[in-house]
Amino acid sequence: MQRRFENRVALVTGAGAGVGLAVARSLAAEGATVVIGDRNLESAQIVHDELRSTGARSLPVLLELGKHEHIAPAMESIVREFGRLDIVANCAAVMGKLKPLLSNSAEDWRQTFEVNLLGTVLLTQAALPHIMSGRRGGAIVNVLALQAEMPLPYHAPYAASKAALASFTRSLAVEFAEQGIRANGIAIGPVFTQSVVNALSLDIETALENADATTATLTGKIGRPEEIARAVCFLASEDASYLAGAIVPVDGGRRLSRKADPFLRALEEQFGTEQI
Ligand SMILES: NC(=O)c1ccc[n+]([C@@H]2O[C@H](COP(=O)([O-])OP(=O)(O)OC[C@H]3O[C@@H](n4cnc5c(N)ncnc54)[C@H](O)[C@@H]3O)[C@@H](O)[C@H]2O)c1
Repeated sequence: MQRRFENRVALVTGAGAGVGLAVARSLAAEGATVVIGDRNLESAQIVHDELRSTGARSLPVLLELGKHEHIAPAMESIVREFGRLDIVANCAAVMGKLKPLLSNSAEDWRQTFEVNLLGTVLLTQAALPHIMSGRRGGAIVNVLALQAEMPLPYHAPYAASKAALASFTRSLAVEFAEQGIRANGIAIGPVFTQSVVNALSLDIETALENADATTATLTGKIGRPEEIARAVCFLASEDASYLAGAIVPVDGGRRLSRKADPFLRALEEQFGTEQI
């Protein structure tokens, strides 16, 4: 196993479960000290205990994107505990309420953007001075979504928030390259996490089998959180030294596939076919 993140401190948002958890585990396995940020402090504490049991250093912090007052205390505890910050992996996001576009209220748009865009932006802005103060460079990796380019019906605020974050990723790249900070994103396709199980209304035992059998990826399998984590670790590492402002598709080729999408079927069941 490579140890690309020895002596590095990485903050991962949404690290209590799903993709963020896999990212936290992978960074820790390669030597990083991992700050586990999540809106669910109990989950963050469980992940902290798990990482510690493997010999990794970590810190659980309450960090609910959208509650902007959580950001400063989280940064203070990172600096107090470790005195540095090198990597931010922005994994947390909310899907928002699924609604036909004309039913989306201003409040629906505001809530999704408050978390996915503004929450990520303010957190990253707060983290950058700490990354820069070390003068060692660093990396920001934003977890985006294929939906920004290829939205499903009824996901307009979510898809637009991820498109805006892709733009923010490029702005970060152009403004911080001189400080040796590379900002990149990954546009991910369907990944097997609890939120996908919920969206497909499947029971957990058969969900993975069903998801693999019905997925519309070219690879014929739904993505695993560990596969996303490997891409995040690549972008966070010096192996990606020539990538800046890139949005890398990590979607099993979903964007090129012509297979029927199981999420469309689930949406049809929920909303009927007229509007899809
Ligand atoms: N799962 C997929 O198929 C898929 C597809 C495309 C993009 N994504 C993106 O991947 C990322 C992770 O998705 P996931 O499916 O693992 O998520 P998830 O819903 O399983 O949540 C993972 C963790 O994030 C935390 N979280 C949720 N909202 C938060 C907030 N506002 N502040 C802090 N923590 C919060 C949860 O408590 C949980 O521990 C998201 O950015 C999502 O948009 C996921």
